[in-house]
Amino acid sequence: MKTRDDKIDLLRGDITKLDVDAIVNAANTSLLGGGGVDGAIHRAAGPKLLEECRSLGGCQPGQAKITRGYNLPVPFVIHTVGPVWSGGNRGEAEALANCYRNSLRLAAEKEIKTIAFPAISCGAYRYPIAEAAQIALRTARDFLSASDQIDKVIFVLITGEIFSVYKQLLLRAG
Ligand code: APR
Repeated sequence: MKTRDDKIDLLRGDITKLDVDAIVNAANTSLLGGGGVDGAIHRAAGPKLLEECRSLGGCQPGQAKITRGYNLPVPFVIHTVGPVWSGGNRGEAEALANCYRNSLRLAAEKEIKTIAFPAISCGAYRYPIAEAAQIALRTARDFLSASDQIDKVIFVLITGEIFSVYKQLLLRAG
């Protein structure tokens, strides 16, 4: 029986290169693309991704919506909108946890078995990295303890700094 942490992996790199069942996009409420990982995913997927996103009618912070992956190696992209950090007293932690929880729920619904997340809100949305990583890992662990529908959750960190924050937290939790 795999423990919940056997089902969690960390990877340093570009999430658009991964060949898993779904990658998660750190989008904005319009779902019409942007910079950062959103820009990288749209560039790699091609214009059909934007076309499908236009039909989704946007996305609220903490919610998650799914599209196909088009020119990406993955069949699906799950788009979620992280909170913009504004000091920590505006429900940011709960909204960020909802991004991970709702993306995992949606993946399970679609019988997706392997899913990769970027560090949601840790770029343009300025969420403090250690707190965001803690929420990401805790929410994934809680989901994986309660359900065996997902086989692998991979956190893909593009910078060494963020990778080492996640690694420390994962090792510490043991
Ligand atoms: N692969 C993996 N991670 C990436 C990649 C990539 N190709 N590109 C960027 N990242 C990392 C960033 O370094 C950061 O750690 O993803 C994390 C999230 O940063 P952003 O992409 O800026 O996302 P976020 O902070 O959630 O801000 C979202 O930015 O791009 C716009 O349209 C987006 O308005 C939305 C906002």
